[in-house]
Amino acid sequence: MAKRTLSGRARACANIALAKYWGKSDIPLNLPAVPSLSLTLDKLVTDTRVTFDEQLPADEVFLDETLQTGKASARVVELLDRVRKKAGLAAYARVQSKNNFPTAAGLASSASGFAALAAAANVAAGLPYDEKRVSAWARQSSASAARSVYGGFVELKAGRPGQKSLSARPIAPADHWDVRLLVAITAQGPKKVGSTLGMEHSRETSPLYQAWVEQSTAMFNRVKRGVLRRDLEMVGRAMEQSTFSFHACAMASDPGILYWQPPTIAALHTVRALREDKGIAAYATMDAGPHVKVLCEAKDAARIKRALLATEGVSEVLTARPGPAIRLG
Ligand code: DP6
Repeated sequence: MAKRTLSGRARACANIALAKYWGKSDIPLNLPAVPSLSLTLDKLVTDTRVTFDEQLPADEVFLDETLQTGKASARVVELLDRVRKKAGLAAYARVQSKNNFPTAAGLASSASGFAALAAAANVAAGLPYDEKRVSAWARQSSASAARSVYGGFVELKAGRPGQKSLSARPIAPADHWDVRLLVAITAQGPKKVGSTLGMEHSRETSPLYQAWVEQSTAMFNRVKRGVLRRDLEMVGRAMEQSTFSFHACAMASDPGILYWQPPTIAALHTVRALREDKGIAAYATMDAGPHVKVLCEAKDAARIKRALLATEGVSEVLTARPGPAIRLG
């Protein structure tokens, strides 16, 4: 029989959580312990091609043209195995993935990366494109990636231990609300404690973990209500509380996890001063790293960007808008 190659391509955008995910209810199934809600961003994009090729002796994973080994490649192979099982395929795959943003700056790439990978592998395997299944596959690799399958505002519910499947769900499209998300770069180099390890360490050792899990649904509900009403103050306040709560939980671990750098705190004060002294609606969030992300209305974005760039230690500010769902081909 002739050797077969099957290939598929997908482009996915990164997302930023407005209500944060931190902690798992089931580690092997990678189910989140708390609900989260995100905004897909138009600016930070991953393009991935997957080719199943019967002549390959093993899976090959390239990120930005560099061959990946160890853990990075193992997580990709696990996702490919799920797709192969569903499609009844045996062939190994070549994965070629490119980020349009500097991964060295420590910006999250796993969300757009695993979403694009799941979608491209789905297409390459010849399966009909099914957003829910792609989101569930992406979620098993990295829970935040489940949300990058969809555009606009997206929720991911908490999972019950042992739950068979869990996908994200869009709650409002990108054109629902013309907000901006500014990313202030406050440090160079990859983060020291990845989110997977950081949240597990928090669960095992932080006295604040249980309180975080109990309170997170209320914060999520306020973020969701605020998004549906386009109420920036409601979203912003709940988002800041969600951010500070999960960081407090991580900091209280043993040993503590501290993602903040001096410019992180300086940028947080810039945001606060804009709000309190100038009456500009700007709200901050952070992920498992030192960068500060600011949610605001489109009309205020340029002014906030100038203030962030004038903050000691902020080297660059990217401006993103609500972004689209995964694009195939
Ligand atoms: C702080 O999705 O990277 O960015 O499921 O272990 O891969 P894994 O974790 P990941 O965690 C993201 C955590 C966060 C908040 C968020 O994006 O909701």
